[in-house]
Order: sequence, then structure tokens, then C-alpha cells
Amino acid sequence: MSGSFGFAGIGAYVPSTVLTNADLEKIVDTSDEWITTRTGIKKRHFAADDEATVDLAANAATVAIADAGLTADDIDEIIVATDTPEAYTPDTASFLQHHLGCREVPAYDLGGSGCAGFVQALDVARARMMLEPKRILVVGVELISRLMSWEDRSFCVLFGDAAGAVVLGPEGGQAELLHVVAGTDGSQTHILTLKTGGTRHPFNAETLASGAYNHLDMDGKRVFREAVHRMSTAVEDVVAHIGKTRGDLSLVIPHQANKRIIDAVQHKLGANDDEVYVNVHNYGNTGSATVPFALWEARKAGRIKDGDLVALTAFGAGFHWAAAAIQF
Ligand code: ACO
Repeated sequence: MSGSFGFAGIGAYVPSTVLTNADLEKIVDTSDEWITTRTGIKKRHFAADDEATVDLAANAATVAIADAGLTADDIDEIIVATDTPEAYTPDTASFLQHHLGCREVPAYDLGGSGCAGFVQALDVARARMMLEPKRILVVGVELISRLMSWEDRSFCVLFGDAAGAVVLGPEGGQAELLHVVAGTDGSQTHILTLKTGGTRHPFNAETLASGAYNHLDMDGKRVFREAVHRMSTAVEDVVAHIGKTRGDLSLVIPHQANKRIIDAVQHKLGANDDEVYVNVHNYGNTGSATVPFALWEARKAGRIKDGDLVALTAFGAGFHWAAAAIQF
């Protein structure tokens, strides 16, 4: 079956607590000037102590399901993209299935694929819908503040918490998912990794004492270069696959890691400011949530009109990358 699949509903959730750059200046040795010039980020939202990943995911999913004019009972499958799961095991999707009151449908996580997870999940959902028409809830959620090292100034200024969700289905309703491309370069796993807690580097008293348990190894410059290259190339690939060119796109929604990365992607694509959606200044990098969150916000803000061809593109630890072409 090669039929069309669509976005029936889009939703998002951001926790209410806001931390500005001025607030961070009181916690670590940093400045609004450094954060703004290096990243474009001005503030980020953090989850409350009594919120965990499934709460953020459920809030975004509830908005998306309502936006689709459906109820939890209509959902046939659930995919959650996250690097910050509710528990080590079972996966966040299991918690979400119960929390939403869905039927006993397949539910699983795409975990550990960093900020590319949501767009990769669209690729998986698309393949699943090709096998059998069904309504799939796809969530990108991150509660990065829970594993934040407040002593590592190069890490804690970059991230925030949020969730975004879409309901995909054979009837679509809002937009058609035309194609998705995705790829992985596993030779780069050491460039961006939180390795403690896995089987190679187990969590123990030593890693707890040294602070390694929440230390993110990141070569920022390598990540920067690779993110620009992979996200821009993925957009070109996905539009070429549907017989279009970059010039046919009304809007590109890139992963919101950092304004300088987005600017460089924009430059490589030859796009103007109106053709690239940016909200990283308000939320920071919310991992796999940035793309669905920005999609929801862009549509709400009137940046997407009927007839628009939109590309989503993301890049993350792995390295993984993916891009999707969507016809509104
Ligand atoms: N405040 C003040 N100074 C800081 C801070 C901070 N928060 N963090 C680091 N510095 C200092 C460093 O210690 C260093 O000081 P030194 O020169 O005395 O040693 C100096 O600033 C420069 O550090 P660099 O790492 O060279 O800064 P750079 O210009 O490369 O910017 C950044 C760092 C913002 C991380 C950049 O490399 C980047 O954007 N990389 C992309 C990484 C990213 O976005 N990761 C997110 C996860 S991956 C993803 O989403 C794709």
C-alpha cells in the first residue's frame, strides 16, 4: 500500500516554570551575553518536581488527540521518542498508554536517538501505516532538567523541558506526510554521549561521587558542524525524493538546538528568515520535543497556511538525522 497518510492532530506542552539567562547567572559562572551570542537562547522552561516524563507527554498527546477530533480510544499505536524516559524499564510509551486510557495497543519508545528521535519516529510510523491503516500517536518528549548537572555551565545553559505530539492517520485532515529520510553515522557515538548508566559504564558509587552519572560528553564544535551538514542535506534529500526543490518549501522547521546552527542551515539552504521557523530563544533545546513543539507553534501562529509544503529536519546523538516533507 502506498497510500497517503496525514497529520490529523498536533499538540504541545511546556511546563510553567521559566528560567531566564539572568536566573542562570546566579547558579553557574555564565552570562546572558555568552548564552545569547553562542546559542540565541534567552529562557527555558523546567518541569515541576512532581512532574515526570509521562506527565509532559500526556499533556501534549491530549492536545493532539483533541485537535484531531478523536479520543484516546481511537489511538491504534503509540511511539514515544525520548532520551529522558519515565523509568529505565518499562518504556515511557507503556506509562503513556495507561495514563491516557488507550486500548491495549502496541506502544514503544524510540530511545537514545537524541534530538532526531521524533522525526525518526515519523519514519517508523509511516512504515507502520503502509502495512495497515491505523492512527498512530507520535510523541517527542524531554525532561532534560532532571539529569542536568548544575555545575557544568556548558551543558545546563542549553536545554529545557517540553513535549510535542502528533496523531497520524489514514484520513489525515490537516496535512499529508509525503516522505521521510533518515540516516545514522555510528562512528561518532563518542562526540555526544551520556555514557554512565549503560552496561559499559554502569552507575555505581564511584560515578555518583565523581558526578560522571550526569556528565554529558560533547564536542560542541563537531556537533555544530555535523548538525548543519546533516540537517541541510536531509532537507535537500527529502524534497528531491518527492520531485521538488528547496524553493518549493514554504517553511523549514529545524531542530531547535541553537540559533547559530539554525542560521547556518538556513544559509546552506538559501532560505530567508520567513522560510525558517525559530523558537529556540524561548525554550532552549528540548531534544526530541523541539520539532513537534515548533510545528504546533508555527501552525498556531499562522506561519503555516493551507497549500504550504513544509520540511521538518532534526539531528542528534548517534549521530542520527532525519527529515520529513509535509503537504498542508
Ligand atoms: N558561559 C560562559 N562561558 C562558557 C559557557 C557558559 N555557559 N560554557 C562554556 N564556556 C566557555 C568555555 O569554558 C570556553 O572557555 P575557555 O576559552 O576559557 O576554555 C569558552 O566558553 C568557549 O567555549 P567553546 O566550547 O569554544 O564555545 P563555542 O563557541 O564552541 O560554543 C557551544 C559552545 C554553544 C556549545 C557550541 O559549540 C555549540 O553550539 N555546539 C553545538 C552543540 C549543541 O547544540 N548541543 C546540544 C545537543 S546536540 C543537538 O541538539 C544537535
